Amino acid sequence: KPQVMILGTGRAVPEKILTNADLEKMVDTSDEWIVARTGIRQRHVAEPGSALSDLVTEAARKALDDAGLSADQIDLIVLATVTGDMKFPSTACLVQEKLGAKNAVAFDLSAACAGFLYGLQVAEGMMAVAGYRHALVIGGEVLTSMVDWQDRDTCVLFGDGAGAVVLGPAEGERGLLQTCLGSNGEHAGLLYNPGGGCVNPPNAETVAANLYAIRMEGREVFRHAVVAMADVLQQALEKQGLSGEDIDLLIPHQANLRIIEAVAKRFKLPMEKVCVNVDRYGNTSAASIPIALDELRRGDGLQPGTLVGMVSFGAGLTWAAALVRV
Ligand code: ACO
Repeated sequence: KPQVMILGTGRAVPEKILTNADLEKMVDTSDEWIVARTGIRQRHVAEPGSALSDLVTEAARKALDDAGLSADQIDLIVLATVTGDMKFPSTACLVQEKLGAKNAVAFDLSAACAGFLYGLQVAEGMMAVAGYRHALVIGGEVLTSMVDWQDRDTCVLFGDGAGAVVLGPAEGERGLLQTCLGSNGEHAGLLYNPGGGCVNPPNAETVAANLYAIRMEGREVFRHAVVAMADVLQQALEKQGLSGEDIDLLIPHQANLRIIEAVAKRFKLPMEKVCVNVDRYGNTSAASIPIALDELRRGDGLQPGTLVGMVSFGAGLTWAAALVRV
């Protein structure tokens, strides 16, 4: 029986939109190439220097409203991000202050694109062990803060945004049924940002060497993503005695339409049952799944009782799946 369920969702994205046509003016690329290789048509981008904590706070406020809860009823805030406001304190603590969630324990979680689903398992576990009743689990990124706008291999892929869910006690059969996580540091070098940590601390040398941008072996990441996402979703289904046909709706991490289609094919899921919004947001890393969840909930895509599969993959490498009866 599920212990926790989703009581509310919210999302926030920066107003500014960067289209593929805009990118054509910045690097040697084309709308045709970007759409064919990724499915992305536009992405929301934050103004340089804007705070992730503002986006996250907006998404969290909407999720609280949706759940009918006030900020002081939140016991736990788990924020999945790799682009926090500062190195420390955690952005979750800054969000706690902005929300007025004075009774919450707050911290950040680093698992790149898989971070939101890691957050669901972490929050569920902490709620069970420590008795927290209401938790905010949030994925939020200002990924464009570490994009090299001259690198066409990566700059066309990413966007900014935040998505939040409120978890609370489950009702009957509705709730979080299963989470499965995986990591493999052997391939950390396929997708990383070398600058700013203790190995390459901020100084004139590391700035000159352009160490503050995303580095990625795109083709290798793609290959690992398809295999790991399919395997971890299969693992989650098997643990529940379910199969792909039981999934009413799949919300995959929105990195690349071709990855999404390949995963759907592995489970023989028609694309009508697969959520795709990568065309409008690009890859927003930890934010992509909760943004999609919120779009569906505020549309009519999440009728109570729907079995939702969620699956993600990111730097680390990290991967994760979750099954939720909403
Ligand atoms: N515009 C035009 N041409 C480009 C661009 C661009 N923006 N970027 C690369 N190219 C060129 C390359 O230089 C290459 O040219 P060459 O053949 O002359 O060397 C050619 O296009 C093909 O490059 P590939 O890397 O083979 O292209 P591929 O089909 O693999 O697509 C992509 C690249 C989109 C990055 C793909 O590999 C991918 O999506 N990988 C997954 C990466 C990802 O999603 N990472 C995000 C984080 S992890 C996650 O969220 C899953």
